[in-house]
Amino acid sequence: MTDTRFGAATAAAVSPPEAPPAAPAGSSRTNNGNTAPADRGRGGHGPADQGRGDRDRNARAKNVPGANHPAYTDLSTPLGERPETQSDSTWNKDAVIELRSVHKAFGQFKVLDGVSCRIPKGEITVLMGPSGTGKSVTLRHIVGLLPPDKGDVYVDNRDVPMLNEDELLELRRGIGMLFQDGALFSSMSLYDNVAFPLRQHTKKGESEIREIVMDRLTEVGLAGAEKRMPNELSGGMRKRAGFARALVMEPRILLFDEPDSGLDPVRTTLLCDLIREISDKYEATSIVVSHDVGAVRRFADNIGILYKGKMRHFGNKQEIEESEDEFVHQFFNASSEGPLGMD
Ligand SMILES: Nc1ncnc2c1ncn2[C@@H]1O[C@H](COP(=O)(O)OP(=O)(O)OP(=O)(O)O)[C@@H](O)[C@H]1O
Ligand SMILES: [Mg+2]
Repeated sequence: MTDTRFGAATAAAVSPPEAPPAAPAGSSRTNNGNTAPADRGRGGHGPADQGRGDRDRNARAKNVPGANHPAYTDLSTPLGERPETQSDSTWNKDAVIELRSVHKAFGQFKVLDGVSCRIPKGEITVLMGPSGTGKSVTLRHIVGLLPPDKGDVYVDNRDVPMLNEDELLELRRGIGMLFQDGALFSSMSLYDNVAFPLRQHTKKGESEIREIVMDRLTEVGLAGAEKRMPNELSGGMRKRAGFARALVMEPRILLFDEPDSGLDPVRTTLLCDLIREISDKYEATSIVVSHDVGAVRRFADNIGILYKGKMRHFGNKQEIEESEDEFVHQFFNASSEGPLGMD
């Protein structure tokens, strides 16, 4: 299946499912009928769009690289009021991502209903929540693949919905994203898939690219399989290949959508250790979507629980583990007893 939602620019940086690498650069996003950022009247960088007292903050930060960009928003202190659902200790840290009351519906179907949170810098935050609750949709807002209907998304000191296509591309170069389905290009070998962002975004020669690609493939246990095509890989192997590709650009922001699903327990443990290691090595800020409570206990610094369109709880691991809230308790202990049912 060819997915035409994203242009080559997006494909190169974030590598979405089956995006055609040969599509003309700068081709517009249609987002499955969702309004593109520019159509929200915010793509023109008009100063009028940037009320909220942000300009004062930005004036203070004018020596910071990129601070004169109209979408620059200093995230070192919170922009909004702390929602009751996020702990003080996580809210007041230096952050790399802040969502402010993000709403998103597909037609009549409301998915995000005012999601607010701040994601601490240099830490691993795990996003949990029942299936279909909007975890993947939230990640897509962070990389600008979906614009919010209402609310704001700030990433790496940028007001994401205000960015134009080229600026989004630049933002995404600093983000490594592993999509839930691995999202490999089906017409390319495993090697070429992993090399793709380096060929697209850097001037590195093939010998340097080979060294990086083989290092990443070795890290995820796929050395020796590099000549295989995606349809010759198991689900878990595709996932690990997506993981390797998300890392080749040494991104400072890592978004992993269920990196552990489809893996055997040993691989899951190894992958969790790898996420921790890579996050520490690059001092990256990571968001990992995971259902695996055991894995989460192993590598999470913070945990956010999304449910029915809202971030119901967000705290550090200890706060979540010790929470007496019925819902958190049920979810975090994967218990059938509690307010959560199959609905
Ligand atoms: N492009 C889209 N168009 C229409 N509906 C969508 C679109 N993307 C997601 N949805 C719907 O939004 C809801 C949330 O989807 P999402 O993929 O974020 O769930 P999730 O929390 O990641 O679930 P899972 O744990 O199963 O991966 C789902 O009901 C899904 O069908
Ligand atoms: Mg998902």
